[in-house]
Amino acid sequence: TWKLTDFVDEKINQIRKTVGDKKAIIALSGGVDSSVAAILTYKAIGKNLKAIFVNHGLLRLNEAKEVESTFKDYFGIDLTVVDAEERFLTKLKGVTDPEKKRKIIGEEFIRVFEEEASKESDCEFLVQGTIYSDVIESAKSGKKTAKIKSHHNVGGLPEDMNLKLIEPLRELFKDEVRSVGEILGLPREILYRHPFPGPGLAIRIIGEVTKEKLEILRKVDDIFIKSLKETGWYDKVWQAFAVLTPIRTVGVTGDRRNYGYLVSLRAVDSTEGMTADWSKIPHDVLDLSSRRITNEVEEVTRVVYDITSKPPATIEWE
Ligand code: XMP
Repeated sequence: TWKLTDFVDEKINQIRKTVGDKKAIIALSGGVDSSVAAILTYKAIGKNLKAIFVNHGLLRLNEAKEVESTFKDYFGIDLTVVDAEERFLTKLKGVTDPEKKRKIIGEEFIRVFEEEASKESDCEFLVQGTIYSDVIESAKSGKKTAKIKSHHNVGGLPEDMNLKLIEPLRELFKDEVRSVGEILGLPREILYRHPFPGPGLAIRIIGEVTKEKLEILRKVDDIFIKSLKETGWYDKVWQAFAVLTPIRTVGVTGDRRNYGYLVSLRAVDSTEGMTADWSKIPHDVLDLSSRRITNEVEEVTRVVYDITSKPPATIEWE
């Protein structure tokens, strides 16, 4: 990794030279790429980096708090956490179509980000965690290929903000981004976390997104992920999560009939997410997860495991 330590030093110098005594802004998502881009830029320009984390209310359990404690408390970055849950939920009210959800969330995200950015005076640069595979993907998407999902990557581009773009990770592959993150001292939990879609839990709640459903899904997801971590399976799968379906199914809780929700667990093996195999997680790990979920989340009466690969399915259900 001697080459990457050189890369880090060079990038820091470069960013420092480019930004000078002006300010730069970044939309931090808590994902690997934007996290590494943020720390790298912070090492270059310190408090002149303004980081904004938009909490759209569609995050996993404790996610916003963890981002705040890592970046603000531990690293000392000037971070603003915007609590926009109500805004997003209002916009999503009654919406069931997956692509409409993505569109609404993507647009609202940019609006919130722009509002926050406009509060910063003499901000001239926008930092983005674009990596090499994003560059390739966007080059490809100019071609005539059928679009399956619109993939709004929250953290996406506010186009008419008149900010100059800084993309310090453009030449790097994912594993190199992780190594750079390690060199910069980012915690393992951030560098090796599973991919998480920009629209968040909204595309893992089939049908309308409500506060109640978000709460249920957060609990289920947290139990599943913790079970995978405890059994050593989290790092063996590429991505794992839970999906809350609108299907109600009869169960017994204690000695009473409980008409609860059906949830599905999903875990896949993949390298880039373009194709994926469903993960052959041992039955006892699935059993542990299922028992914990139905014990601890009263609203859920049935748990299934998704055994579909991509193709023909996609990784996310919406
Ligand atoms: P699919 O469901 O298309 O997912 O097989 C492939 C990978 O992309 C993630 N994904 C998204 N990421 N915005 C994102 O930033 C999106 O709208 C979106 N949809 C899917 C998905 O989690 C998986 O890692």
